[in-house]
Amino acid sequence: MADPEGPAPRPGQGEDQGSPLWAAIDEALVGWLLPPDPVLAEAEATARAAGLPEIQVSALQGRLLEVLARAIGARRVLEIGTLFGYSAICLARALPPEGRLVTLEVEPRHAELARANVARAGLADRVEVRLGRALDLLPALERELGAQSVDLCFIDADKPSNAEYFGWARRLARPGGLVVVDNVVRHGRILEEGEATPDVAGTRALFDAVARAEGVVASVLQTVGAKGHDGLLVAVLPPA
Ligand code: SAH
Ligand code: DHB
Ligand code: MG
Repeated sequence: MADPEGPAPRPGQGEDQGSPLWAAIDEALVGWLLPPDPVLAEAEATARAAGLPEIQVSALQGRLLEVLARAIGARRVLEIGTLFGYSAICLARALPPEGRLVTLEVEPRHAELARANVARAGLADRVEVRLGRALDLLPALERELGAQSVDLCFIDADKPSNAEYFGWARRLARPGGLVVVDNVVRHGRILEEGEATPDVAGTRALFDAVARAEGVVASVLQTVGAKGHDGLLVAVLPPA
């Protein structure tokens, strides 16, 4: 008899949204734990209307980012990959009034929409969206903020650059600072022997860089939910 949910997704089988059960549980948990969030709902509506890709973190993942930032008392946050500002809003909510989040985005349309969404969220005083290729913007940011000035760095842009972004995160984050990287499992494609896309190569290079980094303590949380099977790397830098 056929399995009503179809065959289980295999690594590399790709763009499926995972099992309907994962999505149902995600939805139920959001209803249970997260108060209605008109700000994020409106941000998503603006993105949909503008035809942007809906590849923002899920509601529960966004709240996890806020939890992590609050848990370490973050005051300065760096985000690489803004899209329309969803995760930036989640992270900035954890900041005290004098806190600051800088987020880097290469697409002008994305940056513009993100600025509008951040303003609607009442967080414009804390969030700065910078337009450009992250690797081009990071040197100036280091000169401006100073090395070891960031409490938390969230990496969520072009996956081929992930190892380089991790290198920058190590320089910019303070001792004991937190580095979080989105999309490190990607439906299991990282396991596929023959898989050599730049994204997968970038993720493997990231894991190599993390494993080599002296004193860095890291883990990966595999995630399932409305956005299928993926994972978040969470790493803490060595203390001073
Ligand atoms: N963090 C967002 C999602 C980011 S999607 C959220 O969860 O809400 C990835 C974003 O990275 C896209 O907007 C894409 O335009 C941007 N991006 C891709 N390559 C980039 C680069 N080299 N520098 C800066 N941003 C980049
Ligand atoms: C993609 C990028 C993301 O940051 C994400 O969370 C999901 C998908 C992508 O480029 O396809
Ligand atoms: Mg992502």
